Amino acid sequence: MKSFIKSLPKAELHLHIEGTFEPELMFELAARNNIELPFESVEALHKAYDFSQLQDFLDIYYQGMNVLRTEQDFYDLTWAYLEKVNAQNVRHVEIFFDPQGHVDRGISFETAINGIHSALTAGLKEFDISFGIIMCFLRHLDEDDAIKTLELAIPHKEKIIGVGLDSSEMGHPPSKFEGVFAKAREAGFHIVAHAGEEGPPEYIYEALDLLKVERIDHGNTAMQDPTLLKRLAKEQMPLTVCPLSNTKLCVVGDMKNHPLPHMLEAGLKVTINSDDPAYFGGYLNENYEAISPIINDDKNILALLAKNSFDSAFISASEKSRLIAEVDDYLNKLS
Ligand code: ADE
Ligand code: ZN
Repeated sequence: MKSFIKSLPKAELHLHIEGTFEPELMFELAARNNIELPFESVEALHKAYDFSQLQDFLDIYYQGMNVLRTEQDFYDLTWAYLEKVNAQNVRHVEIFFDPQGHVDRGISFETAINGIHSALTAGLKEFDISFGIIMCFLRHLDEDDAIKTLELAIPHKEKIIGVGLDSSEMGHPPSKFEGVFAKAREAGFHIVAHAGEEGPPEYIYEALDLLKVERIDHGNTAMQDPTLLKRLAKEQMPLTVCPLSNTKLCVVGDMKNHPLPHMLEAGLKVTINSDDPAYFGGYLNENYEAISPIINDDKNILALLAKNSFDSAFISASEKSRLIAEVDDYLNKLS
C-alpha cells in the first residue's frame, strides 16, 4: 500500500507553510539570524510536540515562526517542503501562510510573500509542481487587523489566489469576519475557512452562508449535524481533512475512529491533507497511509481521494481533467 500511495498523483490543499518548519531547519535559521531558541536541542523541540488541543500547538507554532526573518528564510522553508513532497508525487499544492504572524513582529508582507512565491516558482520549473498561495487571517485578532492585512495583499494580488481563516477557533466564529471576507470576494480572491475543527457545526454554517467559502478546512464537527451533512453532500462542498493533525490535536482520539469512512458514506467530497506536517508527524503520503487501514486499503478509494484533491483545487477545468487523467492512467497501468 505504501508504494501505491507513494506513486499516486495527488494535490495538497491544506498546508500551512509555517507548519512545515522542521526542528533541524529551525535551528539552522536561528543560528543564521543570531536568535536564541527556548529549546536546547532538536530533540528537546521534538519532545515539546505533545499537544492535547489546538491552542497547545498554536503557542509553539507562533514561537517557531519567530525565527523567519529574511526573504531567503521564507524561500528555504518553502523549498524544503517542495523537496519533500516532490518525492511523494504531489503534483499541485495550495499553500497557506499567516501574514499577521510575520507583520506583527516587524517582518514585511513583501518579505514573506516574495520568499514563498519565488520558491514555488522555482518548484514549478524544477519539479513541475503547480501552486497557489492562500493568505489566512488570524481569527484571534480583530476584523480591523484582517482588513489592514487585506490592504497589504492588494499590491501582491497576482501572487495570491485566495483568502482563508485560521488560528484559535473557539470563541472566534466566522461571523466576526463577514465584512473582510466580503471585501476579499469583491477583490476576486477565492475563499476558504477553517471551520468545525474544534468549533460547533454552527461555525460551518457561518463559513458557508456568511463568508461564502468554496472549501471547508477540516469540517469534522459536521458529523454531529445530519442536516448539515446532507447539505455539504448536495453542494459537493470540498472538505480538506487532515488525519494526522486530527489525532495529534486530539480532535479524534484514535485513527481507528476517524470519521473519514462516514464522511465518504455520507457522500462528502473529502480530500486528504497534512496541515502542519513538521508538528504532526507526517507529510501528505503519511496522511494517506494513516487512513488506508480504515478504508480497508481500498485503492479505488485512495484514488478517489486523490481525484477529489485535483477536482477541489483552484485550477482550470482543463488542468483538473489533465491531473485527474494522471490518476486514471496510474490505476489502469496497475490492473
Ligand atoms: N494554523 C496552523 N494550523 C492550524 C490548524 N490546524 N487550525 C487552526 N489554525 C492553524
Ligand atoms: Zn490548518
